[in-house]
Amino acid sequence: MYSEKVMDHFRNPRNVGEIEEANGIGEVGNAKCGDIMKIYLDIENNIIKDAKFMTFGCGSAIASSSMATELIIGKTVEDAWELTNKAVAEALDGLPPVKMHCSVLAEEAIHKAINDYRINQGLEPWETKEYHDIHDHVHGH
Ligand code: FES
Repeated sequence: MYSEKVMDHFRNPRNVGEIEEANGIGEVGNAKCGDIMKIYLDIENNIIKDAKFMTFGCGSAIASSSMATELIIGKTVEDAWELTNKAVAEALDGLPPVKMHCSVLAEEAIHKAINDYRINQGLEPWETKEYHDIHDHVHGH
């Protein structure tokens, strides 16, 4: 039911840990499953120099945060902001529908961390959207 890539990033997650001198930190949780994800960003000259994560959650959340950090390292802040949970799930060769919300956590945590960085820089935080996984859409939220 899980792709090889999900299993790989779950068993050998990339970028686990904290960044002590992080200038953007975002922590999010999902109320339904209780999982928590924290993303640390080290941003220099508008580039994500490093990203690390601590996820207390399911395998899909760990795989999603691992893949998401891989995808944003080296990107501009603007490009990192554009990373959607769908892109994370696609990079993992898909997630089961009931696990899509796990990838939403990664998108949300990155947005929080970027806005934390912007606030630290004295900039206006960017507007976030409402986060839904595919299931929520099906039920018409
Ligand atoms: Fe909630 Fe995966 S089950 S984040």
